[in-house]
Amino acid sequence: MGKKKTTQEILAELRAKDSSGGSSSEEPAADQSKAETPTESASPAEAPPAKSADKPKSTKDIMAALRAEAAGGGKAKPAEKTGAKPKSTKDIMAALRAETAGDGKAKPAASEATKPAAKAKPKAAAPPAGERPSVQEMIKVAREGAPDKPAEEKPKTRVKPASRRAAKKSDDDATRRSFLFDVLLAPFVLAWVAFASAATAFGLGVARYMMPNVLVEPPSRFKVGSPTDFPANTVSTKFKAEFGIWVVNANVDGEQMVYALRSVCTHLGCTPSWLEGEQKFKCPCHGSGFYITGVNFEGPAPRPLERVGISLGADGLLEVDKSVTFQQEMGQWGDSASYVPMV
Ligand code: FES
Repeated sequence: MGKKKTTQEILAELRAKDSSGGSSSEEPAADQSKAETPTESASPAEAPPAKSADKPKSTKDIMAALRAEAAGGGKAKPAEKTGAKPKSTKDIMAALRAETAGDGKAKPAASEATKPAAKAKPKAAAPPAGERPSVQEMIKVAREGAPDKPAEEKPKTRVKPASRRAAKKSDDDATRRSFLFDVLLAPFVLAWVAFASAATAFGLGVARYMMPNVLVEPPSRFKVGSPTDFPANTVSTKFKAEFGIWVVNANVDGEQMVYALRSVCTHLGCTPSWLEGEQKFKCPCHGSGFYITGVNFEGPAPRPLERVGISLGADGLLEVDKSVTFQQEMGQWGDSASYVPMV
């Protein structure tokens, strides 16, 4: 099996065969020999242009040409028109008709046969000049020698603008990542950042150590209001949260007075609450209980609540002084600075 022939080669062979069988001149034989020896290059005048052999004709054209040839006289005719441009079906048909109606001289066919011979490969040798193949054989040869169709070139995929933008964004991201990993996260940079952070923290710690601790507390002396603001046998809790005292107007040992009690349990320092319904101070921690006078009566509290200093100012307002305390077990509740008598 040889390489498939092109249509031009087949047509050339057919013309060569036709001319060798129908003409008495010696030139077709010479052309035939040229076709059989493709290594011998034809002269520049006889060499066909490359395009004449590049584009093959379809089997339909070949069939039409063969039918025309089979129906004709087999005489070759000059084919000067078969130049660089490939023939159309119409041209081939016209050439074959003209060939069948010609005078049988095969001279011009030489150039036509030489064209494919110049490009023909060794396998494209024509049959012997003395034998003229039948139409069926020629059809078979034409079919076997029909060149393969060139593979269709797939259209190139156009890059959409969105794809370009996505590619550009991807490039930008890659650049940012590269900057992040190559510059910002470089070990040298990280080491300097860690050192600077540690130095800053150390400096702040030293500065804080050099500054004194300031405890912001409410003033120890403050006004609580007029004595009439505290009815008899009542406990005012409005100063408990801010100043940590209760202002009480009660009868102690037969004397009505106003005094201030610290809201600190004498057991372990918790903050008791005043229970109006039970008329007592109750510590939530261990259950110590105190009367309205501040004397303990239940729970683990070892002693009564403490009083703080209280006095009636020149302006008629009660003033509390938390800087001094008075303890009942120490006999200090008899101090006049620990209460204001109510008349
Ligand atoms: Fe108040 Fe224990 S602290 S009872």
